[in-house]
Amino acid sequence: MNFVIAVDGPAASGKGTVAGRLALAYDLPYLDTGMLYRAVGALAGSTGGDFRTAAITWASALNPESVYDPQLRGGRVGDLASRAAAIPEVRGALLDFQRSFATQAGGAVLDGRDIGTVIAPSAPAKLFVTAAPEIRAERRWKQLAGHGETVSFEEVLADIRLRDARDSGRASAPLVQAADAVLLDTSEMDISQSVEAARRIVEAARGRWETSHSG
Ligand code: C5P
Repeated sequence: MNFVIAVDGPAASGKGTVAGRLALAYDLPYLDTGMLYRAVGALAGSTGGDFRTAAITWASALNPESVYDPQLRGGRVGDLASRAAAIPEVRGALLDFQRSFATQAGGAVLDGRDIGTVIAPSAPAKLFVTAAPEIRAERRWKQLAGHGETVSFEEVLADIRLRDARDSGRASAPLVQAADAVLLDTSEMDISQSVEAARRIVEAARGRWETSHSG
């Protein structure tokens, strides 16, 4: 039994919150794959020299089990992460760990940009969580300000647009909604409404999945 929930979407769409709550609700292990790219981006950014070479070196040496660090959530790291994530060798170095996480016995929840398309293409439940860029920027701006970062709304919006363009435009595993993913636009929803809507989507998928696995 391997019930996998794949949650993809652009920066600050609310996918992390949704994925975390789904993991709790279904008692499944959860992997925030953005943290892997954030760790590589931050390490490569502080190494000096050629960014690409440093990112590939760090991605190959990374211990994916121990990357979680709230400091990595900062705005500048998001930019470094998306630069690192556009390098095919970096993505390749992080692939096995993510695929193993997704195929572990009992199932899992993963969020990122390419979960439903590349990491877990046969996941029975796929969500593509999005919201208008201005709404995402406002959410991210409030979050950063709450953590004491002094940054303007305009800067955050520009960063979101830049990351959207880079994530969607790259050749390797671009940000794209999987053909069988359900779109969840949270522009007009608060957190509890988004989580509730996600639960309904996953419940429907779980019903179909159980039917196909019974008998
Ligand atoms: O989701 P988060 O904003 O933490 O991700 C940071 C960056 O990592 C993204 O902008 C994207 O470039 C990259 N990423 C990716 N594939 C994933 C997860 C994140 O390319 N599965």
